[in-house]
Amino acid sequence: MNLIIKNMYRRKSVRRFTEKQLSDEEIIAIVEAGIQAPSGHNAQSAYYTIVQDRDLIEKMNQMAKAEMQKSEVDWIKKFGASERYHLLHNAPTVIIVSAKDDAYSPVEDSSAAIQNMLLAATSLGIGSVWIGLIKFFLHLDEAKEMLNIKEGYTPLFAVCFGYENIEVAGSKPIKKTDVYEWIR
Ligand SMILES: Cc1cc2nc3c(=O)[nH]c(=O)nc-3n(C[C@H](O)[C@H](O)[C@H](O)COP(=O)(O)O)c2cc1C
Repeated sequence: MNLIIKNMYRRKSVRRFTEKQLSDEEIIAIVEAGIQAPSGHNAQSAYYTIVQDRDLIEKMNQMAKAEMQKSEVDWIKKFGASERYHLLHNAPTVIIVSAKDDAYSPVEDSSAAIQNMLLAATSLGIGSVWIGLIKFFLHLDEAKEMLNIKEGYTPLFAVCFGYENIEVAGSKPIKKTDVYEWIR
């Protein structure tokens, strides 16, 4: 199998990390892979905020979980209330991906960039997971200031990175394969 496709099969969401921090070179390689992604009308609208401040990561976790507890969706409420659950899985590096507000397709641009980063991380032996639930923090008024988000940008997603703790490694879910058909 082609190496890139093999890497896609290998990628899985990693939610148990070791304490070891990534090197700046590894982070730059991952972010630069994100930058290579396609974007609507070539807007290149994604912006990356690399957070390695443990206190800030913990604040995001706490503030998001407090909001999640107000949710009317049962499973979100339960996660918000669970002491064991960490929204950012105690990852040593969290990248917040923001999008330029006036871009043609901001969410798609950021999503394409994130997928590139996940695959780059996998190929470097680094674990990662895309965090959509960070919206419970990002929607708060104080979030943009806490993350130093530039005027004209909206933070959309978080992505956690670190080395997988193989002693408690999770498995990759089985993928459905009956999801395509031909028209010809
Ligand atoms: C848009 C999006 C949002 C996600 N949000 C979260 C999240 O908030 N927390 C989390 O632990 N995983 C999150 N994930 C990861 C999914 O749970 C994961 O991709 C899915 O269970 C399939 O597992 P796999 O990535 O190992 O193939 C998200 C994935 C996507 C694409």
